[in-house]
Amino acid sequence: MALLALHAVSKAYGALKVTDSITLAVDEGETLGILGPNGAGKTTLFNLISGDVRVDAGRVEYEGRDVTGLKPHQRCHAGIGRSYQVPQPFGNMSVFENLVTAACFGGKQCEREAWQTAHEVLEQTGLMPHANRPAGGLTLLDRKRLELARALATRPRLLLLDEIAGGLTEHEAGVLVDELRRIKARGVTMIWIEHVVHALLSLADRLFVINFGQKLAEGEPQAVMANAEVRRVYMGMEA
Ligand SMILES: Nc1ncnc2c1ncn2[C@@H]1O[C@H](COP(=O)(O)OP(=O)(O)O)[C@@H](O)[C@H]1O
Ligand SMILES: [Mg+2]
Repeated sequence: MALLALHAVSKAYGALKVTDSITLAVDEGETLGILGPNGAGKTTLFNLISGDVRVDAGRVEYEGRDVTGLKPHQRCHAGIGRSYQVPQPFGNMSVFENLVTAACFGGKQCEREAWQTAHEVLEQTGLMPHANRPAGGLTLLDRKRLELARALATRPRLLLLDEIAGGLTEHEAGVLVDELRRIKARGVTMIWIEHVVHALLSLADRLFVINFGQKLAEGEPQAVMANAEVRRVYMGMEA
């Protein structure tokens, strides 16, 4: 049984079909990479999985249960954690307070447990030196790390990462990938939207390519990257 299964999910904004009957499944422990040009509907797909946006049609199943009607906080409590493409920390709160808040409200953990989780996640993500700094003053790499850390603090079984490596230097992206590799090794299932293709390829077990809200290709990473249609649409290369 797949951990997450989308059955023909669709979402339109006005006349624009942003998600057009997408069907996909992700197995426990798997890392699925998502590629697609800007505006293809990648973030919207995450919004439909996390419940931030309701589907117009189709079904979202998680752990074999229909969660299509559940609110975002209910899906988060069920184990679906996500990061946002534009980091959304509470800028006036410290890094530590941001993590306690995520653990408490997103992970339904009580006080002592939330503090412990925040502590663990600070260590896992290398944010310990910044624990008491206001989140608003962090560098881009640390804001991305905090975005990952906030999702981890909810103790996800399924982690959705939206362009977590975008804008980072080569070295910084490498540091982040190493962190993600350790998270994957702990058995967390991931769906990762990323334009930094080599970072994505270093971790993804399978790729799913979206164009104009529809599936363009899906499968083993090397095969998908070699697909002529994918090269033309996504990388602007002639076959
Ligand atoms: N809330 C919204 N209202 C209207 N249009 C939207 C909304 N959210 C996304 N869109 C449009 O849907 C398309 C896909 O957006 P998005 O899912 O963010 O794409 P991606 O993440 O692949 O760049 C874009 O054309 C975007 O402008
Ligand atoms: Mg996006």
